[in-house]
Amino acid sequence: MSPFLSDPAEVAAWRDELERENKRLVFTNGCFDLLHPGHIRYLNEARRRGDALVVAINGDESVRAIKGPGRPILGEAERAEMLCALRAVDRVVVFHEMTALECLRQIRPHVYAKGGDYRPETLQPEEQALLRQLGAETVILSLVKGHSTSELVKRMSPLKSDKVKLAVLGSGTGSNFEAIAEAVLAGNLQAEIRLVLADVPDAGILEKARRRGLPAMFLDPGRPGFRLTPSACKNYADRIKASEVDLVILAGFMRKVEGELLESFAGRILNIHPSLLPKFPGKDAWKQALAAGETEAGCTVHVVTEEIDAGPVLGQSRLEIRPGETESELIGRIHLLEHELYPRVIGEFAAKLAREA
Ligand code: GRF
Repeated sequence: MSPFLSDPAEVAAWRDELERENKRLVFTNGCFDLLHPGHIRYLNEARRRGDALVVAINGDESVRAIKGPGRPILGEAERAEMLCALRAVDRVVVFHEMTALECLRQIRPHVYAKGGDYRPETLQPEEQALLRQLGAETVILSLVKGHSTSELVKRMSPLKSDKVKLAVLGSGTGSNFEAIAEAVLAGNLQAEIRLVLADVPDAGILEKARRRGLPAMFLDPGRPGFRLTPSACKNYADRIKASEVDLVILAGFMRKVEGELLESFAGRILNIHPSLLPKFPGKDAWKQALAAGETEAGCTVHVVTEEIDAGPVLGQSRLEIRPGETESELIGRIHLLEHELYPRVIGEFAAKLAREA
């Protein structure tokens, strides 16, 4: 382990020592990738709220998941090294989960400091419950305007990329995601997949994305069933906005896209559906087609609007239903069509947007 990183158990023992001396340990966490004056002022302020400061940094994998590919710019050992050089910082620990909950549980700080991009209602509820249990005080410190690592990175790369930037949302196996990712890799789709989100923690799409080194995360839908809660809609919208994408691609996302999520990306959300829309919207479309005695079936890519599977059609592929064809044979053949259609339509739609821009 890096000499600049402390073991949380050792920090916990030191915290008890401080308490015996009537001193207070302040805890804060973040990515701290590429230090800038905003960080320095924030950390000085945090340190003033107690007698010592421990900074918990996100491990490299979780920085990638939060900030997108290409981040962190510096690995965790070097980020710890820079933080250790600051007068305000006494200890640095690293955590590899998406939140600092476990770290807080172990270290049990007296004060928890967060940046002004948080408001009391956006603090993580589990962290807040734990801090209440510990009797720890939470302070939200104002951030220095105009200073952020993401801002710095942007300033350093003024060349606009001509690739369309995508966020992909799914709930299932992610074979359409895989087809899109393959098309990107093969150079057939000029795109960059910046983020993959799923409403199911163990969805295959997440595993597939991670294997490709793409930022992928489960985001709580807020309730079971077909709809997201309004606050989940907001969380999805916020997360996607942070990844600065041009298009949101639904690839087997089994929730209604509405509220803030729909409004934030209106006209820029695409979906693929396994029927020849407007025929057979909704669930198990290929089964509906078979049950209705159709002679043809297929798939449709369309723009997502308020009404399910009813937005403007961008492209379709069709096939003839074979006599005696089973449901699983049919969906298998539709999937093959989807995997060719979706990347192609995304490319065409992106080119049209670029021409109109
Ligand atoms: C596809 O059949 C698509 O048409 C529908 O959901 C399924 C997703 O499959 N919207 P996968 O997760 O991409 O394999």
